[in-house]
Amino acid sequence: MVSMRILSTFAVISAFLFLDCEVESCQTTISDSNRRDCSPWSGTNQASCEARGCIWCPHETSGIPWCFFNDHVCPSLIADGEKVDCHPESGASRESCNNRGCIWCETSTPNTPYCFSDPTVSQGGANCPSDISDHERIDCHPDSGSTEDSCIKRGCHWCTSSIQDVPWCFAPKTTGYTLVGDVTQTAKGYTATLDRKPTSSWYGHDIARIQMDVEFQTNSRLRIKIFDPSVARFEVPLNISSTSAALDPLYSVEFSNSPAFNIKVKRASNGATLFDTSLGGLVFSEQFLQFATKLNSHNVYGFGEHEHHSLKHDMNWKSWGMYARDQPVTHGANLYGVHPFYMNVETSNLAHGVLVLNSNAQDVTLSPLPSLKYRTIGGILDIYMFLGPSPENVVQQYTQAIGRPVMPPYWALGFHLSRYGYNDIQTLKDTVNRMRAFNIPHDVQHGDIDMMDRRLDFTYDPVNFTGLPQYVRDLKNEGTRWISIQDPCISIGEPAGTYRPFDLGQSMDVWVKESDGVTNAEGRVWPDANVYFPDYSSTSCQSWWKQMSIEFHSTIEYDGMWIDMNEPASFVTGSVKGCYYNQWNNPLYKPRVYGDVLADKTLCGDYLQSFGSHYNTHNLFGWSQSPVTQEAVQEVTGKRSIVLSRSTFPGSGSTSVHWLGDNHSLWSNLHYSIIGSLEFNLFGIPFVGPDICGFGGHTTEEMCQRWMQLGAFYPFSRNHNGLGWREQDPGILGAEVARVSRESLEIRYTILPYMYTLFHHAHIDGSTVMRPLFHEFVTDTATHAIDRQFLLGPAFLVSAVLNEGKTSVSAYIPDARWYDWYTGAEVSNSLRKSWTTLPAPLDFIPLHVRGGYILPTQQPANSTMFSRLNNLGLIVALDDNEEASGDLFWDEGDTKDSFENGEFDTVEYTAVPGILTGITSNLGYAGLFGMEYETVRVMGLAHYLDITDVRVNNQQHNLFTFTSSTGVLDIVNLTLPAHEDFSITWTAL
Ligand code: NOJ
Repeated sequence: MVSMRILSTFAVISAFLFLDCEVESCQTTISDSNRRDCSPWSGTNQASCEARGCIWCPHETSGIPWCFFNDHVCPSLIADGEKVDCHPESGASRESCNNRGCIWCETSTPNTPYCFSDPTVSQGGANCPSDISDHERIDCHPDSGSTEDSCIKRGCHWCTSSIQDVPWCFAPKTTGYTLVGDVTQTAKGYTATLDRKPTSSWYGHDIARIQMDVEFQTNSRLRIKIFDPSVARFEVPLNISSTSAALDPLYSVEFSNSPAFNIKVKRASNGATLFDTSLGGLVFSEQFLQFATKLNSHNVYGFGEHEHHSLKHDMNWKSWGMYARDQPVTHGANLYGVHPFYMNVETSNLAHGVLVLNSNAQDVTLSPLPSLKYRTIGGILDIYMFLGPSPENVVQQYTQAIGRPVMPPYWALGFHLSRYGYNDIQTLKDTVNRMRAFNIPHDVQHGDIDMMDRRLDFTYDPVNFTGLPQYVRDLKNEGTRWISIQDPCISIGEPAGTYRPFDLGQSMDVWVKESDGVTNAEGRVWPDANVYFPDYSSTSCQSWWKQMSIEFHSTIEYDGMWIDMNEPASFVTGSVKGCYYNQWNNPLYKPRVYGDVLADKTLCGDYLQSFGSHYNTHNLFGWSQSPVTQEAVQEVTGKRSIVLSRSTFPGSGSTSVHWLGDNHSLWSNLHYSIIGSLEFNLFGIPFVGPDICGFGGHTTEEMCQRWMQLGAFYPFSRNHNGLGWREQDPGILGAEVARVSRESLEIRYTILPYMYTLFHHAHIDGSTVMRPLFHEFVTDTATHAIDRQFLLGPAFLVSAVLNEGKTSVSAYIPDARWYDWYTGAEVSNSLRKSWTTLPAPLDFIPLHVRGGYILPTQQPANSTMFSRLNNLGLIVALDDNEEASGDLFWDEGDTKDSFENGEFDTVEYTAVPGILTGITSNLGYAGLFGMEYETVRVMGLAHYLDITDVRVNNQQHNLFTFTSSTGVLDIVNLTLPAHEDFSITWTAL
């Protein structure tokens, strides 16, 4: 009965719509100016227009569409179920939809796109060649507003496509350059002189003659440098070079001049093509540089900084803009840092990485051929390839080139707590007291800008935070370190002689200049008054910043520095005066980045810094602030420290660490935080994590509890909250959240010796700390897209619950023996290489240890100051051959350059059937003397009926238990000196 009624109502509406459509015809009530083009491509006629449900009404005035949308009725001829989403990313509007040549039609039918493509539109036409397939296209009109006319003017092809986001205007294959003379050999490789093929210009000022230098820098690193030999253009001041040519490279390089000059890089071992520019599309003009390359496979990772929804890229014509931006985390937006680096896992499961060392505004489009198109608006095309062949090798080679990750102090691996908006010292103290009351580990407390005096750098608020300096000292005595925030900009509004950071900065002339090179650039950020922007690339600024940081330490005895807003952020566009309209502030091609202009939320492009124009160096602002901040902090504390930088660029990891910015208290953000953290490990910044429980928005008890469980295993574990949102420190949300937070963090603290050793390897060898599963199991293609689970190092698997209301996790069990962290029981062999459901009640996070590895552990405490005094332990997880290995790096925890100065100890652990040995080496740090191993857990002995005899250094040791059901041998009450070699044996019945 009910459905009958609905049906008949629907029939009436349809009849009305049909009638309406007929009546409208050419006597439309839609005014000329309100006509919205329903068919912006050529060849439209009345039949094709009306077939789309639009109105056909020729007009004598050019520019007024003849075929236009019926604003009263959407085109009704395409059934909801047949609508193909033309704007799957967020932010679709009628305008952006119609700009894509798609149809906008709002509907209440669930899961039906408002913006959809038109299946009736066909390809073809005079300008549409048949030899370039949809997915081979290289966008000839990446700026908006492409029409057939504008396309043809650029000498490009125009073909429609029914595939979403495929460009309709695309470059002929011959677009590019042609070789002049021969490719000639040089000491390090080859050089080629290339002349531009005579085609129309896209954005003007094309460089007629360019040079390509190919350098075989090392066996695993190749450089392809494309530049203008006659005019020096901006190059990122990061020197990646070699003195001679590699002798036995893992790659070979081929050149061809057809259809335009192109280069192919092949893997020497198997001949696979890794980089191939034969699609054409090389453009080198003053403010538009582009190359396109085919990719070896669809397994592409990297490019940042963005909120990606999958670790493995969606290759369906997705574009990502890169321009450092003060931007709350938003899908599709360019965020705080810029990382033009990707890794490609090849069809053979070998991996390589590619860096485009360029600091201008840029973007990349990934498409399913598979291929990518890279575009930048300045500098040069400086491409480095890293041949791996394993994913870890790629990161090691990449960090060798850009700088190995900084070694964090031990305390930084503890738990951090922060919020913007404690607002007074009592609230801060209450928060800290809750941590103590629940005995939750708390190694580091951060101080945000609400603790400053009117948000002025290098001050504290003496009214609302009376006694802060002494409180910081008290906290440190209790084992909680302090990190102070500083914003890069300096208020100009304080009376002369009263605010030293400004007065000294002024006398040392440290500021970014306007385009005249004289006037200080003036913007607005947090302080009440306007600000100047220090130019961290100038040596005077570096001395000033160092001086200020050092002086501030006599007020607040901070242990580390948090440098925020260093994109640089500004609350006005360009400056308080705006920006001039010119080629640097308004380039003809604006990469796909947020904001109407490049200066949106930052400085004008034509402003000047010591190392170049802001146009060229914007993305290097945070990058140039980090090293001097690290130097200052080390100098004033005399210790190793961390500098937590919001804006990063390749190489930032060698002096700074990173958090993922202003995320949200949303369940989805748990998943995205794993992706973001894994990406920064790929970018050579392994010390990374998001704001646990979310920066913006009100969290819930369940979300925060789950996030604290997951957050206990980020390399950087910090709960940070934004101004005005519900309190979310782990002690405020009830006893259960507090208990679960404490227990999760106690597991973290237990494995800190393992994590610290991982950081040592990151620092020395460049390996990752937080690792995707495919880094360890790359031949298992099922791991390539896994981004809801992750590994710490090779051996510690985290499978957290990421969804509301769930009490189990769907987890992949990679091909190895795995042991439950809590019980030591082995995961059934039958589950290897398969998905399984792991129970995960609200107070439980599934954790597994991989067979074949030995993890050093330590009894936890509520800070590392105390945990470092506790006894050590070992977790021995045996593999199929009953073997395992691992190591420990141990030093004083925050001595500067302890490795470089030999002030450390290492222990190598090895297990073979029935025997575990520990061999010490170096012993350059006295701290291991006096420490003892207390427990050893051996997992993977289920095939033994019993263990009857345990010997420690050949002496019988009776304090052990063997649980035959799980195969776990727990040896306790050991008093093994940590600085001595040892052996432990176990004998079966
Ligand atoms: C923006 C940062 O991203 C955030 O973490 C901080 O709390 C605020 N600035 C205030 O300093």
